[in-house]
Amino acid sequence: MVKKTEANYCLKKNNTFGINVKCNTLLRVNSENDIFQVLNSNNFNKDDFLILGGGSNILFTKNFDGSIIKNEIKGIEIIQECEEYISVKVGAGENWHDLVLWSVKKNLSGIENLALIPGNVGAAPIQNIGAYGAEVKDVIVKVCAISIKDITLKQYLNKHCNFEYRDSIFKHQLKNKVIITHVIFQLSKKPNLNTTYNGIIEEIEKQNVEITTKSIFNAVIKIRSEKLPDPKVIGNCGSFFKNPIISLKKFESIEKKFPEIINYKTKDGKIKIAAAWMIESCGWKGYRSGDAGVHSNQSLVLVNYGRSTGNEILELSKEIIKSVKQKFDITLIPEVNII
Ligand code: FAD
Ligand code: EPU
Repeated sequence: MVKKTEANYCLKKNNTFGINVKCNTLLRVNSENDIFQVLNSNNFNKDDFLILGGGSNILFTKNFDGSIIKNEIKGIEIIQECEEYISVKVGAGENWHDLVLWSVKKNLSGIENLALIPGNVGAAPIQNIGAYGAEVKDVIVKVCAISIKDITLKQYLNKHCNFEYRDSIFKHQLKNKVIITHVIFQLSKKPNLNTTYNGIIEEIEKQNVEITTKSIFNAVIKIRSEKLPDPKVIGNCGSFFKNPIISLKKFESIEKKFPEIINYKTKDGKIKIAAAWMIESCGWKGYRSGDAGVHSNQSLVLVNYGRSTGNEILELSKEIIKSVKQKFDITLIPEVNII
């Protein structure tokens, strides 16, 4: 059954930046039928709505006039199993970390490096969530959704999702065109351990335990908890910007001026630059103006110390973009969805 909130509903608790804005109505849906009901209703404006998961990658800069559909479809269902893999169909409204926990408890491998990423399963394919050497694209089989225009069920196989670093078809051609209802993942019964990220092995060695799915999961949780601010304590959306990817030629000219620039080679011969390092080197780390600021341990994370408005955070992000552009001739692109 669709659950409808009162008019002028306050969204402060529905976005991890903790921005105090309102929406017209928030419609909580927990089945495909609920979504059909919303889309078929006369009150629903197909040009003015927003789909919300856990609100951990959204910056509200104003009240939202239209309806918000909060996807709360639950369920973790094993749909196929063989000697090596299981396929699992997960409701978009399941909490991402709960799914990782479920997987690790069952000794399945594939998403343990993505522990503790806030938000819901339905949003995971949208920016192809990634962390500590892993990306969710490597375990997604297909994404199930409802098309808003024709109100029908659709399925997108992995190869049709155009997954890239923090990107997918759902941020482009299918933006605001579909509501993701389920994601089907393939998880490995055999350990498929990924310790490529600097720091995971060190953390496991410190704890004097074997390298297993569980010890990687624990190491990632430990590293994340030390580095990233907890949104329950201080409002934030994780990295505000993407790490820029530039050509080798451009990189070589920047490196001449800034030999210490932190960078990584990508598989296709380009160079990914640590945006946090550039922002820090422009002097922003720990900066605060009113209640908007740059986190003092991680300069890629913009924070709301309490009463910042979305516009104050947005203005700060623009200042950061300007100064990074001036110093390095690189334009940072926000990862966070600005509404
Ligand atoms: P929301 O913020 O609710 O929505 C994000 C976007 O997806 C919006 O445009 C929304 O309209 C759309 N959307 C949501 N659900 C659906 C749906 N069912 N159908 C269609 N569209 C939908 N991200 C990483 O990749 N790696 C990290 O390591 C990481 N660390 C983080 C750490 C912190 C402390 C925080 C606060 C965030 C971090 N993030 C990270 C960002 C965030 O957790 C992810 O982007 C997450 O997938 C967002 O999920 P959500 O449910 O909160 O999405
Ligand atoms: N660094 C600085 N200054 C800082 C912070 C970091 O110079 O203030 C340096 C670090 O020393 C390191 C490099 O920058 O050499 C990269 O830092 P880190 O490993 O912390 O990762 P990141 O590039 O800042 C990315 C993701 C995170 C993800 C981590 C771990 C993006 C935009 N961000 O951050 O994802 O958790 O790697 O894999 O790709 C998110 O997307 O919201 C997010 C938190």
